[in-house]
Amino acid sequence: MAIIEATDLVHSYEYEGSHNRSIDGITLHIEQGEWLVILGKNGSGKTTFAKHINALLPVQGGELSVAGLDARDPANIWEIRRHCGMVFQDPNNQFVSSVIEEDIAFGLENYDTPEGEIPARVERALAIVGMDGFEKKSPHMLSGGQKQRIAIAGVLAIDPQIILFDEATSMLDPEGRQEVLSTIHKLHAEEGKTIVMITHLVEEATLADRVAVFSQGRLIGAGSPREVLSDLDLLHNAGLTPPLPVKAYYDLQKEGVTLPCCPLTHHELVEVLCPSK
Ligand SMILES: Nc1ncnc2c1ncn2[C@@H]1O[C@H](COP(=O)(O)OP(=O)(O)OP(=O)(O)O)[C@@H](O)[C@H]1O
Ligand SMILES: [Mg+2]
Repeated sequence: MAIIEATDLVHSYEYEGSHNRSIDGITLHIEQGEWLVILGKNGSGKTTFAKHINALLPVQGGELSVAGLDARDPANIWEIRRHCGMVFQDPNNQFVSSVIEEDIAFGLENYDTPEGEIPARVERALAIVGMDGFEKKSPHMLSGGQKQRIAIAGVLAIDPQIILFDEATSMLDPEGRQEVLSTIHKLHAEEGKTIVMITHLVEEATLADRVAVFSQGRLIGAGSPREVLSDLDLLHNAGLTPPLPVKAYYDLQKEGVTLPCCPLTHHELVEVLCPSK
């Protein structure tokens, strides 16, 4: 069974008296242990969808089940949030305490974790994100990538099955972005977490098991990273730019040079151009 099952999900925000469909009939099933990337340009409904998975928005129409719980039932809200942690875009405003271990413990206390279990859970979460030794430090003293890893540790301590990342790398420099992507990889490969990662950076989608493309509140395509990222029409319809190696492949084809396959990454492009290396 899929761990997340959205069927015909719709949502409209009430804004200055008008109701616009921000998500407009999304049907998407996400398997346990899957790493799904949601791609879409600004305003395509990505965050609105994610907030449903985390029970931050009530279901207005359609159906949604998260970890076997019906999200339409208000009695399930806290249980759904315990199963589904969320890491946000801004590394600076995800902390409630100026001491890292207190910040992570605060989240655990909110979920009624027995006091005796808290130190070990904080320690384990920090070790997984490679931030052990930072317990007594302030999150505000850290780099952007380190802050996001602490935010991830805060979510991990609660031991959710699903972790949502909403543009969690978009405010980071390349080094910070790499730190966070490696951490996400570890959560997926070693901790068996189901990852839902929202991004508008097509390059980040190459890491996923599957990519879903949103446009104007609708799911307009889904498939493997290779299927989605080499589909110029789909990307164009979503208002997205293909990864540079894909663009190079098609530009070369137009000039009469056909490479043996369409590369997705810089590394694959070099391999296709210099097969003997
Ligand atoms: N709180 C709100 N009140 C009114 N309208 C909203 C609200 N939040 C989002 N919207 C509208 O809903 C639509 C979808 O927004 P959403 O934030 O889900 O998109 P997104 O794909 O996450 O965009 P971005 O890439 O900019 O984060 C947009 O048209 C947006 O203006
Ligand atoms: Mg968003």
